[in-house]
Amino acid sequence: MEVVIVPDADAGGEIIAEAMAGLLRRKPEALLGVATGSTPLPVYRALAAKAAAGDVDVSRARICQLDEYVGLPAGHPESYRSVVLREVVEPLGLDEASFMGPDGSAGDVPAACARYERELAEAGGVDLQLLGIGTDGHIGFNEPCSSLASRTRIKTLTRQTRADNARFFGGDIDQVPHHVITQGIGTILEARHLVLLATGENKAEAVAQTVEGPLSAMVPASALQTHPHATVVVDEAAASGLKLADYFRATYEAKPHWQGL
Ligand code: F6R
Repeated sequence: MEVVIVPDADAGGEIIAEAMAGLLRRKPEALLGVATGSTPLPVYRALAAKAAAGDVDVSRARICQLDEYVGLPAGHPESYRSVVLREVVEPLGLDEASFMGPDGSAGDVPAACARYERELAEAGGVDLQLLGIGTDGHIGFNEPCSSLASRTRIKTLTRQTRADNARFFGGDIDQVPHHVITQGIGTILEARHLVLLATGENKAEAVAQTVEGPLSAMVPASALQTHPHATVVVDEAAASGLKLADYFRATYEAKPHWQGL
């Protein structure tokens, strides 16, 4: 995998937004997989700014969701559908029809998971999937010990992840749902380009294990090691546990500028 060390979160947002813009210039109807949480927000802001400046035409872009809480009422402001509509779809001027995600309020959750797998396949697969990483090494909501071949399914969040996400629910862990629907690791690995963004020192350990540790279901993000085109963008704080940081810096500096991520 390629590791790109950037000075701060905004620089990470800019570099990834430019990769998305480049993809949309080559393939205007590209399917962009988006993550929620705090980390990707600079990417969405930078992409919306490029679209507003006429740098890239996003009008045919398609957006898909990585995961969703189970059991939140439709329209709950912290459902991931609401978050993606608010942070990605609306700022890009897209309509809801360009957006797909798993149905976290379905009565039959396994059927909703199977339906989402089918929809992703029928859409031609994800062109670029943006990922965050949990402090426990999760991607999507594939918590430690998730099968590296898993497909979209229901998962139970760890207490650590619920504590990490309590800030979106007024700081009250009891308001954070226990269950989620998440694309499986096998599903995520089918995207043509995986881009993981991690910022802040609290991600340094998970990043080091993902990039330099063994491939292990205990660190679900380590599955990126098996992908032919995976890019890990980290700020200095999130890179602080990497033994090979200098090598990664030198490699990126020497890379032909036109190549993009
Ligand atoms: C969200 C998701 C999660 C987050 C991760 C990091 O859709 O899939 O894997 O990316 O929990 O969250 P933040 O960015 O809030 O630290």
